[in-house]
Amino acid sequence: MHYDFTTIYDRHGMDALAVDGVGSMPGFSPDAPKNGTTFLPMWVADMNFATVPTIPQAIAARIQHPLFGYFRPSEAYYKAIIDWQRTQNGVEGLLPEHIGYENGVLGGVVSALNVYCSKGDNVLVLSPTYVGFTSSLENNGYHIIHSELKRDEHGIWRMDYPDMEEKIVRHKIHATIVCSPHNPCGRVWERWELEQAMELFRKHDVMVVSDEIWSDLTMPGYQHIPTQSISEDAKLRTIALYAPSKTFNLAGLVGSYHVIYNKLLRDRVDKESSLSHYDEMNVLSMHALVGAYSAEGRQWLTELREVLQSNIDYVCDFLEAQLPGVTCAKPQGTYMVFVDCTQYCAAHELTMDTILKRGWDAGVGWQDGRPFHGAHHIRLNLALPHALVIEACKRMKQSVFCD
Ligand SMILES: Cc1ncc(COP(=O)(O)O)c(C=O)c1O
Repeated sequence: MHYDFTTIYDRHGMDALAVDGVGSMPGFSPDAPKNGTTFLPMWVADMNFATVPTIPQAIAARIQHPLFGYFRPSEAYYKAIIDWQRTQNGVEGLLPEHIGYENGVLGGVVSALNVYCSKGDNVLVLSPTYVGFTSSLENNGYHIIHSELKRDEHGIWRMDYPDMEEKIVRHKIHATIVCSPHNPCGRVWERWELEQAMELFRKHDVMVVSDEIWSDLTMPGYQHIPTQSISEDAKLRTIALYAPSKTFNLAGLVGSYHVIYNKLLRDRVDKESSLSHYDEMNVLSMHALVGAYSAEGRQWLTELREVLQSNIDYVCDFLEAQLPGVTCAKPQGTYMVFVDCTQYCAAHELTMDTILKRGWDAGVGWQDGRPFHGAHHIRLNLALPHALVIEACKRMKQSVFCD
């Protein structure tokens, strides 16, 4: 490997919710470990790897010029996004006018829904569901209608199209969120799956917010397919959201963007996000994106995906071989594994509270899957050095699934 994915960084006191937020958000963050055990951060969705060097280099170069006044996004910013979307996702014809800054992807989701819906409207969301969708939709007065993903005969999470259609009709739904790749289930949707979903949305006039924040983090062999590339109709009924934050561990720098081809929607979203007067870019975040979306960024990402694949393989094989009753569908994208403890809990008459607590006490900083609508699930972040993943598995066997 050319880049470093093995150094174990001490992130304490370095602006890291993953370690400093432990025990601070009941129901969301893990409890602190017991007896001075080391803490393994495997919950909030950021990575324990240093990012690609071109990012700090780009920021450092900009800081040399110590004036930080008002600014407009540079040509280099738009060019970086257009080139990135072409090489990563095969997107042709993307122009600067289609791209718009968003402070966060969730903010973009809410702006898009505000354009599509009236307060109190029903919005279709697939379940299990990213907890951020639940909180931001509820916070903004939308009513979530879930359609459950189902695992097929090979254990792969699939959309249930008849259920989606029935709910769209029954609840008069005209807006939905597509999460692609899917957090927390790790699906990289195949073209036919997106085609079938988009056909349903066309048939029933459902407008689409496509959250593609995880689009770069597909495992080797899996290709992300932008929702807007499915058809001309999909292109015009979809507001897509992207960011370098998951890919390059930049959440703390803030900076996402939308792609909207439909001029009417674009103007409405711009208006909507202008209302708060808070949706403006930070100049260092702009330079970070340009540093990220570069040839070196691409090379770093190729290596990162291999590292994540080996972590995912290790954990999934470990569960299967060593922890009877604890299962998962192997993620095709993201760095999250949604671990299913249903059988283990039943066999040993244990609750999820007990399982989670045993892990936290042993320093396995995993996340309760229930807020993601997994009744007996744990969301496990595998973006950390392989040695720590091995250690986490060891602790799971010794201290959690040890009955
Ligand atoms: C699917 C998805 N969307 C959005 C976000 C949050 O994005 P942002 O911090 O840009 O709002 C996350 C973070 O984990 C996510 O998994």
